Amino acid sequence: MTAKKGELVVVGTGISFGHLTMEAKAQIERADIVLAAIPNGVMADYLLQLNPQTESLMSLYGDGRTRPQTYEAMTQRIIDEVQAGKYVCTVFYGHPGVFVTPTHEAIRRLRALGYRARMLPGISAEDCLFADLGIDPSDNGCVSYEATAFLFSRRPIDPTVTMLLWQIGIVGECTLTEYAPGPNAMRVIQNMLLTQFPPDHRLCIYEAASIPGLPTRIDWFPLADLLSIATKPYSTLLIPALCLPEFASERLAELGLSEQDLAAFSPA
Ligand SMILES: C[S@@+](CC[C@H](N)C(=O)[O-])C[C@H]1O[C@@H](n2cnc3c(N)ncnc32)[C@H](O)[C@@H]1O
Repeated sequence: MTAKKGELVVVGTGISFGHLTMEAKAQIERADIVLAAIPNGVMADYLLQLNPQTESLMSLYGDGRTRPQTYEAMTQRIIDEVQAGKYVCTVFYGHPGVFVTPTHEAIRRLRALGYRARMLPGISAEDCLFADLGIDPSDNGCVSYEATAFLFSRRPIDPTVTMLLWQIGIVGECTLTEYAPGPNAMRVIQNMLLTQFPPDHRLCIYEAASIPGLPTRIDWFPLADLLSIATKPYSTLLIPALCLPEFASERLAELGLSEQDLAAFSPA
């Protein structure tokens, strides 16, 4: 079956001005229309320079819409332009497929309708965090949760793994219209963490600079102080690992190895 006329490419700008990849820039320049969900005014102006047919999706926030309604309106807008036969480039900040609903949804629906649709990777907040905080996910592993999903579900909390809570600044916000933590949500998160971490375990609120030269926020504080820490919608909470996991001695035995044999794998 040949693909229908009309195509979607989804790209990300990265977090900071300067993160835009060459392939993303080329796609923006060649598109018939660029649909941009970019809160950063400097980047939004730059997109307009790259392609004057750039339209902002940011006005779909507000107007009494909940966040899911806004995401649905964005998805539909993207699909409409592709169905009109255009080569559409939609641009989101960071990596366009990391904690972003409309991009995945538009691709899924367009493919089901017989259109070409794909995503290019971008630099996410997590990538910036690894660089700024000197964290290598290979050391302890790293698990990412959307903070509200973490709050609502029964998940094991593993103190041997680095944990990131995304969207901590709107954790437990159940009206889906406000941009602050919901009542008591931070206290419940603190209590969840206290089941596995001591009160003096140091956490970090991280906010990568979106313009080079502006400061990156890296605020370390003890878990006991979580309730007094100010957050923004673009804050990420880092919970470093507390301890190392136990070796699986039965597996080592099966392999004819001892813990001493493994010293070279883990100099730390
Ligand atoms: C809707 S998600 C978008 C993530 C984005 N697509 C990315 O690739 O990083 C928003 C969440 O990403 C994280 N985030 C976005 N910008 C950030 C920044 N400048 N510094 C730290 N975390 C950020 C926060 O957890 C925020 O609540």
